[in-house]
Amino acid sequence: MRHVEVGGGVVVVTGAGSGIGRALCERLATASAAHIVAADRDAVAAEETAHLIGGDRISARHLDVRDEQEVRTVVEETRAHHGIVDLYCSNAGVISRGGVEVPDEVWQQEWEIHVLAHVYAARALLPAWLERGRGYLLGTISAAALVNEIDSAPYAATKSAGLSVLEWLSITYGDRGVRCSALCPQGVRTAMLTEDNFLAQGALSAEEVADAALAGIADERFLILPHPEVREYFRRRADDYDRWLRGMRRLRGRLAAGAAEETA
Ligand SMILES: NC(=O)c1ccc[n+]([C@@H]2O[C@H](COP(=O)([O-])OP(=O)(O)OC[C@H]3O[C@@H](n4cnc5c(N)ncnc54)[C@H](O)[C@@H]3O)[C@@H](O)[C@H]2O)c1
Repeated sequence: MRHVEVGGGVVVVTGAGSGIGRALCERLATASAAHIVAADRDAVAAEETAHLIGGDRISARHLDVRDEQEVRTVVEETRAHHGIVDLYCSNAGVISRGGVEVPDEVWQQEWEIHVLAHVYAARALLPAWLERGRGYLLGTISAAALVNEIDSAPYAATKSAGLSVLEWLSITYGDRGVRCSALCPQGVRTAMLTEDNFLAQGALSAEEVADAALAGIADERFLILPHPEVREYFRRRADDYDRWLRGMRRLRGRLAAGAAEETA
């Protein structure tokens, strides 16, 4: 038996006011989810998502995923009104640019949104999931967790840590019916991806990524790679780390030279 049937299931999506989160809500609605809670720290954007989809099987809610109490309240309220959350899409994210010089506040913010948010969700969801032996956590991570992110040290580091949390949850609770998936796209055409990012070229639409996510959930696959080439990059890293690092340095050099040419 599958651990979650999206059709007829109760779902929470964080970061649902935009991009991949909004597309996930749309696809989940099409797949006949029983109820979708579209949650975002931008409450107006969450309302827009609910309005766009329409009907009474979606509701919007303010949620800052950095606030554990608020995460717990969303999970409890959802259970009270619609039933135990079957699928929780921990999708909210932000990105900064820069390296180790980036101020601590920015590192801290990304740590809270990309790592602690999954921890808070797990704490709120696990008791009911373990009791009934079933539940599904989808984390929107990023290919940055597998092959780094040249433009942003905080993003690469916190996305890797977020992946690790999901792996740990899967190892620890997988035999008790808790399923986890890590959605790891490269570029996706959303507000987050600036046009000057080299990943913009091969970028997918948010809808394509949401489709890949739902297909991965149906297969109960841990690693969901909407860009299939990422599997090969990840394999190369594991095969020969030093060679992979040399290749990444060359890529970084080419990108820096291209940027210098553009501004010259
Ligand atoms: N766009 C890409 O190229 C790309 C690639 C790989 C992974 N991702 C990941 O996909 C996820 C969704 O990003 P997107 O591309 O749709 O970007 P987006 O900017 O369109 O959407 C992000 C949403 O998250 C919300 N959000 C941010 N901080 C929040 C918080 N503290 N609490 C609740 N909501 C918050 C924002 O209000 C926004 O609605 C992120 O986790 C991102 O890191 C994006």
